[in-house]
Amino acid sequence: MSITTGDFRQRITVQTLADKKHKHEPIVSLTAYDYATARIADEAGVDFILVGDSLAQVVLGYDSTLPVTVEEMLHHTRAVRRAVKHALLVVDMPFGSYHTGTRKALENAARFVKEGGAEAVKIEGGTSRVPLVRRIIDAEIPVVAHIGLTPQSVHRMGGYKVQGKTTAAIDQLLRDAVALDEAGVAAMVLEGIPREVAVRITAEVSTPTIGIGAGPDCDGQILVFHDLVGLTFNPAAKFVRRYCNAGELITSAIQSYGNDVRSRAFPADEESYHLPRELQHSAEAAKPAVSRK
Ligand code: KIV
Repeated sequence: MSITTGDFRQRITVQTLADKKHKHEPIVSLTAYDYATARIADEAGVDFILVGDSLAQVVLGYDSTLPVTVEEMLHHTRAVRRAVKHALLVVDMPFGSYHTGTRKALENAARFVKEGGAEAVKIEGGTSRVPLVRRIIDAEIPVVAHIGLTPQSVHRMGGYKVQGKTTAAIDQLLRDAVALDEAGVAAMVLEGIPREVAVRITAEVSTPTIGIGAGPDCDGQILVFHDLVGLTFNPAAKFVRRYCNAGELITSAIQSYGNDVRSRAFPADEESYHLPRELQHSAEAAKPAVSRK
């Protein structure tokens, strides 16, 4: 049985992602963190929406993903859930929510499904995460893996650096990808790795690969919403393509609003409420209450 949404588009499931890899149909993914942008992304036809822990940086203003909490991720996931009717909804398990023991990780993953309405959770890391990934999948929660440049490992990596640039590192990435594939992950984000390595991984695994800074040969691509629309304040990474400059657009809209308020051009009479006609003729009723003395 296929599940349809109110607008009769077929809902994207983890099976859809697998089918897309099989049919060589690129998977389109994007992050979202609130109702309005998630609704726009969903209605624009994105296949999967990730409530990324990049929330920490692009929405909450932290300088890494590390501080964001389970409660904050849940709050934003619920807002996105209310908007998304078509895309698969995936949520990032934040730093610390799956690092301190399997039981705690399972409890947190279940909260994202039960309280947030997520359909899959994303976890950073390779072979060392495989036992946990298996336990979460055993609990009926699909897992999206994330290897290569994993932002939660920023301190171990010594910065946000492209990974997989030596033979040993490439071999490890391939081992990670194969182990996660065998564990049954629903998709695998490949971040910040050379195109040639992403080609090898994508050919090697049956899991759909989703690239971000991994070249065009992955089974799909993901971008951070704020990067795509130009709502960021730092120079963009090499892999970002900015499709519009929302920052400039919004600044100009706010400046126009400010000018209109200062010149009393806003609000106009058409933007004002009026008394019923019969009361309008009563000068008394139309007088502002403060001047009635
Ligand atoms: O948090 C995030 O936005 C991500 C994507 C960059 C894949 O993990």
